[in-house]
Amino acid sequence: MTSDFGPDRVERAASALRAEFGADPDALIVLGSGLADLVDSVQDPTVVDFGDVLGYPKPSVAGHSGRYVFGRLGGKNTLVQVGRFHAYEGHSTDVVVAPVRIAAVLGVGTMIVTNATGGLHGGLPPGTVVLLDDHMNLMSRSPLAGPVHGAEGRFPDMSRSFDSELQALALGAAQKNGIELRRGVYAGVLGPNYETPAEVRMLASMGADVVGMSTVPEVITARALGMRVLGFSVVTNPAAGLGSGDNTLTHHEVLEMGKGAASRLGTIVQGVLHGLE
Ligand code: HPA
Repeated sequence: MTSDFGPDRVERAASALRAEFGADPDALIVLGSGLADLVDSVQDPTVVDFGDVLGYPKPSVAGHSGRYVFGRLGGKNTLVQVGRFHAYEGHSTDVVVAPVRIAAVLGVGTMIVTNATGGLHGGLPPGTVVLLDDHMNLMSRSPLAGPVHGAEGRFPDMSRSFDSELQALALGAAQKNGIELRRGVYAGVLGPNYETPAEVRMLASMGADVVGMSTVPEVITARALGMRVLGFSVVTNPAAGLGSGDNTLTHHEVLEMGKGAASRLGTIVQGVLHGLE
């Protein structure tokens, strides 16, 4: 378990980033496995390695490269976070959600999260981009368990995790660019093993559409901090037991499939940024 990332470290990391960037971001974009290509569209980029931000650990997973790229994207000052910390790496929840808390200190009011997922039914084949309508926290723990952190409050409401105005911007951008955008519910599990076929049947029958090992802690924290949140999943594989062939799942397969959908997702995200007030 890596050490905690308490309020002092959050403040110091935010000051360090502010000094690097010279301006405060309007939005935070978190890019998941294999979805990093969007950073190539950032204008006047300033790149900061996670390891240089006051003891951020280095993400240990291939496809999660661990850096910030700050610059202009979709006409907004945007902080793009390439890679994230997962609870399955052994990080405490404070580390997992530290980037969200730091963004809040920097004044960020809008967070767009992306992730790679398994599709839980045949209607969501690999390559599908899914606009998230809701999530299920099946990770055994809330990031808010423990002492109340900053402005997060004790019992934040989670009845509207994903912002309907931002969703409308996303749907508009998808339509304008001829991109199919599906909608669904994200089930967040701890991992790191992929699911069993029986678990996949359980998740689907509970009403989930995609399953992944991230995002939920970040969304809960961002909502507790009053941020507006938008979420996208890219379906990289049929969840276990649903595919054809021998059905074994590899991280390589997940990364490769994410790349194809990343450019469509990038177009939608830039459209959303353009539409922000
Ligand atoms: N299950 C959980 N997480 C994932 C998957 C999956 O099938 N694919 C990509 N991330």
